[in-house]
Amino acid sequence: MKDVYSIDDLVSRSLLDEGADLPARLAVLGLPVAHSLSPQLHQPALDQISSGVRYIRLEVEPTRVGEALDALQALDFIGANVTVPHKFEALSVVDDVDEDAQALGAVNTVLFEDGRKLGFNTDGPGFVRAIHEEFLVDVKDLRIMVLGAGGGAGQAIAAQCAREGCQRLVLVNRTIEKAHQLAARLSRYFESERLEGPGERLEVIPFESSLLITESDHIDLIVNTTSVGLKRTDPSPLPTSCLQPHHLVYDTIYNPPRTRLLGEAHQVGARIANGLALLLYQGVLAFELWFPGQRPLETMRTSLQATVHSASGTL
Ligand code: ATR
Repeated sequence: MKDVYSIDDLVSRSLLDEGADLPARLAVLGLPVAHSLSPQLHQPALDQISSGVRYIRLEVEPTRVGEALDALQALDFIGANVTVPHKFEALSVVDDVDEDAQALGAVNTVLFEDGRKLGFNTDGPGFVRAIHEEFLVDVKDLRIMVLGAGGGAGQAIAAQCAREGCQRLVLVNRTIEKAHQLAARLSRYFESERLEGPGERLEVIPFESSLLITESDHIDLIVNTTSVGLKRTDPSPLPTSCLQPHHLVYDTIYNPPRTRLLGEAHQVGARIANGLALLLYQGVLAFELWFPGQRPLETMRTSLQATVHSASGTL
């Protein structure tokens, strides 16, 4: 058994399952993938429903996602998760793409069915559920600022907010062109009969203090999707003066559990939550695609909390 497998391990069932109790029939594809928590999220749930399935990590180089999925399909896998940086490539190699994945422009879950590769995206719907669980509010009712809207995660979350019909969407990105490109794709969701034009409900701004401060009066939910905060020494991606007590602040980072952004938001009296619920719900929704009717939410939550707790103790 290996912590991380490669495409070379997919040549035969006997090689892949050497030393393992259960056959590998689900995998997460990424690069790097050794840090992925998906096995810890899914394996206890697979065991709980007596699936007889092992979940593995598979390291795949860019341009080889199609080849990897073909090999998994030939080995009778149920499906796969796809993580950074392969979510865009996966969209282009599956046979069919569901509506969410199409709208979000990325695939994070694959189901093999009747010889076909079906692509889904549970990141967007997972985000909506996470916000509801953490803050008891609906994305559609909120004015939302997405920090890092040009990145992979940021684009998916911003697109989901737009599809939900959120009240306002402010896209913030260091490389401003990427945010403009996304805004162009999303503008159709903001063309309504309301008095404000799309320009006012959908805005793009750079990471510049004065603009962020002015905007923050008109925002309910701030979402960090940048990688700023992953290291404990990182600063907050947002100046403290932007944070207000009425804000809900969601950081997609879950380790460390309280980033500097969340710490500062908490201090001003804002409500805060980290990315654990997003990780949990995108996983539960993927599980339901592979095993219709099964929803091992609490098993997955317990396992994830234990994993992250022990990881943060050692980091
Ligand atoms: P992923 O696809 O996993 O979201 P990514 O594409 O590397 O990862 O995106 C990371 C996001 O964090 C991007 O929005 C990136 O901004 P750029 O598009 O300008 O690169 C943002 N980011 C990373 N480091 C940052 C920093 N120091 N300040 C502001 N934004 C940063």
